[in-house]
Formats: sequence, C-alpha cells, structure tokens
Amino acid sequence: DRRQLVDSHGRTIRYLRISVTDRCDLRCRYCMAEQMTFLPRSALLQLEEIAIIAERFIARGVSKIRLSGGEPLVRRDVGELVDRLGSHVGHGLDELTMTTNGTRLAAHAGRLVAAGMKRVNVSLDSRDPANFRFITRHGDVGQVVQGILAARDAGLRVKINTVALAGLNEAEIPSLLQWCIDEGLDLSLIETMPLGAIDEDRVDRFVPLTRVFDALSAEFPLVRDSHRTGGPARYWRVEGTNTRLGLISPLTANFCDGCNRVRLTTDGKLYTCLGHDDQVDLKSALRSGGVAALDAAVDAALLSKPRAHDFRIGSNEAPAVARHMSVTGG
Ligand code: GTP
Ligand code: 5AD
Ligand code: SF4
Repeated sequence: DRRQLVDSHGRTIRYLRISVTDRCDLRCRYCMAEQMTFLPRSALLQLEEIAIIAERFIARGVSKIRLSGGEPLVRRDVGELVDRLGSHVGHGLDELTMTTNGTRLAAHAGRLVAAGMKRVNVSLDSRDPANFRFITRHGDVGQVVQGILAARDAGLRVKINTVALAGLNEAEIPSLLQWCIDEGLDLSLIETMPLGAIDEDRVDRFVPLTRVFDALSAEFPLVRDSHRTGGPARYWRVEGTNTRLGLISPLTANFCDGCNRVRLTTDGKLYTCLGHDDQVDLKSALRSGGVAALDAAVDAALLSKPRAHDFRIGSNEAPAVARHMSVTGG
C-alpha cells in the first residue's frame, strides 16, 4: 500500500506539481501566444478527483505539493482544494505551496495562510508599469505588487520568479534584487525554456544566467547558500540581508539528475518530465478502476520517466515541446 515512487533511474518522487487550470488572466510573451485555446471545462478533473489523486501521492511518499496553472487563483474552487490539501500539512505533507501571477493574491492570501501555506512564489518580470504591461500583454504591475505585499504581510514567505529576457528585463534585474532586499522577499531567476508556440523570438530573448549572475556579483555580496527547497534552484544569499537569490538554469546547468517531481495537469494527465511528452491518463484510470488502477498507472508512468530534458535554444525551429508551460504549470 505504501509503495514508494521510484523511477527507473533510481530517483525518488517526493514533489507533485498540480496545474489546477490551464487558463490565465495574463498572456506573458515567453509563455503564451496572444490567442490561446484552453481545455473545455468538461475535460477537467473535479476538485474531489484532484484531492483523491493528491492524497494517493501523499500516501506513496510525496511530501511537497505545489499548485500552479495557468493561474491557479482563477479556478473558482481553488480555495476548497487548498483547505483540503492543507489538512495534510504536518501529517504526511511537509509543504503545500503555490506559484501564482499575483493578480488575485491580495484577496486570497489570508485563506492560504489559514490553510497551512507558509510560502508562495509569485511571477514578476518587471516592476516598470509599461514594461510589465508589454511582457504580460494585459497585466497591471500595481495590482501584482499589491498582491505580493499582502501575501508577505499575511505571513507568507514570498519568492519572486523572474524569467530573464534580453532587451526586456535583463538590465532591470539588479534593481529588482534591491527591491526584494528592501521588501524582505526572495528572488529566483529563470532561464526561458522552449515550450509551446509563442509569437516571440526565443533565441534573441534568451539570457544565460551566468551572465546575469556576473552582473549581480559586481553589485551585491553574494555567498553560496546550502538552502534547498526540493525545487530546481541553486541558492545564494545576499550577505547582511534575509534575501536569497535562486538560479534556475535548465539550459546552462542541467539539474535533471536530482529530479524528484512529476506533474498533474488539469485534465488528469501525469507528465513525468517538463521537457517531454511522456504522460499517462490518471483521470481515465481513476474513473474506470479506482485507486488500484490509479496506482498501476502511476507505476507505469514512473517506468518511462525520461532521464533528462533536452532543451536547447539555438534556433527558432519548432520548440522541443509543443505544449505550453501553462498546461503543466512549469
Ligand atoms: P521552490 O519550491 O520554491 O523551489 O519552487 P520551484 O522552483 O520548484 O517552483 P516554481 O513553480 O516557482 O518554478 C520555477 C521555475 O522552475 C519554473 O520556470 C518552472 O518551470 C521551473 N521548473 C520547476 N521544475 C522544473 C523541472 O523539473 N525542470 C525544468 N526544466 N524546470 C523546472
Ligand atoms: N520558460 C521559463 N519559465 C517560464 N515560465 C512560464 N513559461 C516559461 C518558459 N517558457 C515561468 C513563469 C512562472 C513559472 C511557473 O514558470 O514565469 O514564474
Ligand atoms: Fe499566465 Fe504565468 Fe504564463 Fe504569465 S507565465 S501567461 S502569468 S501562466
């Protein structure tokens, strides 16, 4: 009954990422095209089904669950899911957390804390209103900053996620780090990954984080920090502050050897790698054969979990993976 989740490369799965919706109120240029086709509502897992699947993963050794999207806070019943999964924190689950774009965070922060959430990651690629609007196509940076500060004031530790983009926000990253220091936030920088057709040029926009790190090192006293979250980031601390700087470098420093995660999509597919199409249909398994069939489907999925992604950004040919990041929630 308590069979651990180990893949064929000997990696133990302890981190489940759940995309609770593929929809989003923004259209970040590196993530989505202007026109997107979303899943019909009839294809989605019901809240109860998400909870059953998540609880089965907890029973089998998953200790960390992250809710993502799309934008998780646009799903109407997400609060109920947070309450339900939050009841497992401290009882099998070490951490329940969320990655959000922040637009609706001010309204939800209190409930997240009450459910047992300790921290959230919020995407923010620029603090400049015009630049933020350009990158997200629809966003209001004031609203997101308000959400970030409300989450912090409600007691959540907040980490800002920033995708480094040449010519869009690269020059702004030092001031973004200074703002995080001033506001008591952490900052993680992310290399853009080739998922899904977008309207932008990925090659021109790509920034190796080694270059950003060199620029930051010239301005900030950065010391290596052994802190780990179970996520892909490597951390530095800005000396003399509480701010941690995380680097997520799938292109320049592959971290797949230590992979501990799988992803559940909003229509019930389990993806075993962000960089591949390998998946199994947990929704059908659960609906046709209950928990026993669910277990068998998960076991089958783990057998074929790829060893690594092979993201490359060298040409603007079709992206390595056709689906958008918003399908699996990153
Ligand atoms: P922490 O728990 O704070 O460490 O968060 P996290 O990094 O696990 O999650 P988050 O949703 O904030 O993701 C930050 C970035 O890491 C996103 O761009 C994700 O797509 C990326 N990421 C997370 N897991 C993987 C992975 O297994 N492979 C790759 N290539 N990228 C990943
Ligand atoms: N490459 C890297 N990061 C991405 N994100 C969305 N799309 C991409 C991409 N193509 C980021 C978002 C969010 C996190 C879940 O993933 O900005 O912070
Ligand atoms: Fe929405 Fe996040 Fe994608 Fe931006 S990166 S469009 S906020 S899912």
